[in-house]
Amino acid sequence: MNTVTVDPHQVDTAFRAAMRRFASTVTIITAADHERRHGMTATAVTSLSMSPPSLLICLNQKTLLHDIMFRARRFCVNVLHCEQVELSAAFSGAVAAEERFALGTWSRTEDGIPYLADAQANLFCRKAAAIPYGTHTILVGQVEHVGLRDAIAPLVYQDASYCVTSPAA
Ligand SMILES: Cc1cc2nc3c(=O)[nH]c(=O)nc-3n(C[C@H](O)[C@H](O)[C@H](O)COP(=O)(O)O)c2cc1C
Repeated sequence: MNTVTVDPHQVDTAFRAAMRRFASTVTIITAADHERRHGMTATAVTSLSMSPPSLLICLNQKTLLHDIMFRARRFCVNVLHCEQVELSAAFSGAVAAEERFALGTWSRTEDGIPYLADAQANLFCRKAAAIPYGTHTILVGQVEHVGLRDAIAPLVYQDASYCVTSPAA
């Protein structure tokens, strides 16, 4: 195995290069406050614990979703299907915030949170904790309900590209 020692000044570049080797499932995180609903593409989503069932998400503090999440009590993590690349692009900035929900099949929970009806999975969460760190905030979501779509075929992001998964040889 080749090992590379990185000059501390080059650590940013090396860190980016290392992160390109992470394969991450693409999600759209949705939330609403009294005035607005919003959704944003995110891959910084990780299972946290089974007891209680919980996950964490990392949001850049500059995003509109971060703003909304400050007041919101609940949010939804919509796991994208491998054929939903267009949705991922729209919800990561290609389409203006208000127009994003015109794409895809969206429903709403009783408390107004949009969720993608044909997502691979919908994880409906209660905001349990928020931890600021650097430019981001780590949010812990306690999972209250889950919706599942049968066939497992998530959209994956790796090396700055969208990919599909297949079993290893
Ligand atoms: C594949 C992908 C994954 C992303 N993951 C995250 C993430 O985990 N957290 C985050 O804050 N932004 C993430 N982003 C960036 C946001 O989707 C993007 O900044 C978005 O447009 C937020 O802007 P908005 O305030 O207009 O919604 C990701 C973008 C892409 C394309």
